[in-house]
Amino acid sequence: PPLDEILNLHDFEAVAKTVLPAKAWAYYSSASDDEIAIRENRAAYQRVWFIPRILRDVTKVDWSTTILGQKSSLPIFISATALGKLGHPDGELNLTRAAGKHGVIQMIPTLASCSFNEIVDAAQPGQPLFLQLYVNRDRELTKKYVQNAEKRGVSGLFITVDAPQLGRREKDMRMKFVDDGAGAKVQEGQSGVKKDQGIARAISSFIDPSLAWKDIPWFRSITKMPIVLKGVASPKDAILALEAGVQGIVLSNHGGRQLDNARSGLENLVDIVAALKTRGPWPNPNFSVFIDGGVRRASDVLKALALGASAVGVGRGFLYAFSSYGQEGVERAIEILRDEFEMNMRLLGITSLSELTPDLVDASRLRAG
Ligand code: FNR
Repeated sequence: PPLDEILNLHDFEAVAKTVLPAKAWAYYSSASDDEIAIRENRAAYQRVWFIPRILRDVTKVDWSTTILGQKSSLPIFISATALGKLGHPDGELNLTRAAGKHGVIQMIPTLASCSFNEIVDAAQPGQPLFLQLYVNRDRELTKKYVQNAEKRGVSGLFITVDAPQLGRREKDMRMKFVDDGAGAKVQEGQSGVKKDQGIARAISSFIDPSLAWKDIPWFRSITKMPIVLKGVASPKDAILALEAGVQGIVLSNHGGRQLDNARSGLENLVDIVAALKTRGPWPNPNFSVFIDGGVRRASDVLKALALGASAVGVGRGFLYAFSSYGQEGVERAIEILRDEFEMNMRLLGITSLSELTPDLVDASRLRAG
């Protein structure tokens, strides 16, 4: 269908399913094992209800914010999703260009199809970018990669901590991995590529499963970028992260692609915010709590922000947008979300994101599912 008939982010998914080659659809859409975590990521949002306020003059509404000190036109960042060229010949550059045009921040994946430098070169001057890091067994390679990113102006390092081994995404595993050029130019000298277990496993063998809390000071020593741990679920780990001196966490189950049956970020948010509140000022200007998984509507984002998140990541929503329509699809997705923020904020009775407080939502049934 023509792009102007796309009315929401779900529509992009429906189009992507019909236009993507089977292998790409399997890699993008799959989640681990019985795909329960991915289902719950969506379902959890549907168990939180709004309690709107009225008569509060909502003529002017502002949904802009800052994320790790960087301006963002939406309280949304583009989560890292690997292998963009499986979906579109321009791969991740679709995201970079659309993000630059609309003031949104892209998180560059370690396993991008385009090289890191290509992506940074496609950004506008001053366009903020984040980097997602899979930590290599060879720490010197990781150090070079991180320091090059900092030199090139990247303003946040998201270390993925929920993937010491890749989950079993069985839809993907049923497809044999053939390196047809879409595969990442994985700088990190991987070895032992197994081509018979799907794309995910084939490209991820360099990831270091020995990564541990004791390594965090080393990351702190090699970069001045804010460090965020991506893939936190337990309040205990949230507190360890705060104590380790990193600048934030992403509550995430990796889009349901890692440990199946891992609770959704939204469900963990309430407990984690409560735990962090016992350890100092809240909101904490030096420690951000982000969340991702299952976000397809501005209303999802508003629920997460009301419950204490400071911004929300979107993975598949944008991935399906560029797989279907390239850069224009991503731009349309951003515009759709912007319209949704305007309407939902007016109807909620708020004019800025700072007015989003827990009393605007009923999360009492969040655990009921
Ligand atoms: C991912 N995600 C991911 N995360 C990460 O840290 N490194 C990566 O390389 C990837 N790759 C990746 C590929 C694909 C195809 C998907 C769908 C996801 C996880 C991603 O950053 C994010 O956590 C989820 O995508 C969020 O869930 P939604 O928005 O896709 O529902």
